[in-house]
Amino acid sequence: MARKKIALIGAGMIGGTLAHLAAQRELGDIVLFDIAEGIPQGKALDLSQCGPIEGFDAKLTGTNDYADIAGADVVIVTAGVPRKPGMSRDDLLGINLKVMKAVGEGIKNHAPDAFVICITNPLDAMVWALREFSGLPHNKVVGMAGVLDSARFATFLAQEFKVSVKDVNAFVLGGHGDTMVPVTRYTTVSGIPVDDLVKMGRSTKERIDEIVKRTRGGGGEIVALLKTGSAYYAPATSAIAMAEAYLGDQKRILPCAVYVEGRYGLDGLYVGVPVVIGANGAEEVIEIPLDDEAKKNFQVSVDAVKELLVACKQIDGSLA
Ligand code: APR
Repeated sequence: MARKKIALIGAGMIGGTLAHLAAQRELGDIVLFDIAEGIPQGKALDLSQCGPIEGFDAKLTGTNDYADIAGADVVIVTAGVPRKPGMSRDDLLGINLKVMKAVGEGIKNHAPDAFVICITNPLDAMVWALREFSGLPHNKVVGMAGVLDSARFATFLAQEFKVSVKDVNAFVLGGHGDTMVPVTRYTTVSGIPVDDLVKMGRSTKERIDEIVKRTRGGGGEIVALLKTGSAYYAPATSAIAMAEAYLGDQKRILPCAVYVEGRYGLDGLYVGVPVVIGANGAEEVIEIPLDDEAKKNFQVSVDAVKELLVACKQIDGSLA
């Protein structure tokens, strides 16, 4: 059987980490694409030289030509620019929208059968725009946010309860950003809901609220520490988990930014919800009953995503 092909659009910090992880796990041969000349080629060469030490045979190549992503099974998109001081949200939207247009066309022309995972921010708007520009089916274009957000939530909860992260199953809904909705009712430690652990005196509502707040600001906390960039290890490993679920037809239920139509009261919007990921991509959105507070918070998140889409349509008339 031919090896799978993984195309990484954007060979920056996340792109390079994705390439390393994909090679170590031998998900397939890896093509790093970037508009910057030399960067994808240099990173591919450097990473190939890990092969003899780490024992992987995955072939890594770097390119500035979309033709080289031809036939990719999975495409992971990190191309774009991060928000810089003095840049408004609309400035960032405008720049990254243009990037999504170029990337969407590249995918449409060279890898139309791929499963596409978008990481570029602002995530919920960018994954929507990428789907629009690429014209791929909705089930084949998803955004990575919830896996990362729930990993952050789980990390902080494991520290709070002094338990292994392996026993924490965290649940986060909504858009990727300040309005994300960590749901404590469905967040468990070895099957025990966090709300029950609070009742059992293992923590307090105030401390859990603090953790929820820290999770919402999890990306910003890392930006403030790094100063010159944003998180890349955990975002990359989150997207790799999604790629593995697709390639292995694992039917994992992962929180992802997916196109939701007819569930959660939505009539066609990309937002973070639990979804079954298998060989058909985003196979089924799982609608869970929400209590009034989670419903209200989810609506705030949905409204924030909708507002971003309005701004995108104003910037690029072809999306209207
Ligand atoms: N086509 C391809 N690559 C592009 C394009 C484009 N049109 N425009 C920019 N790039 C490349 C840059 O050259 C750079 O190598 O995208 C890469 C982005 O890498 P970094 O700046 O290192 O950013 P990274 O930390 O990897 O994050 C990427 O993910 O989490 C989000 O907010 C983050 O949107 C950002 C993205």
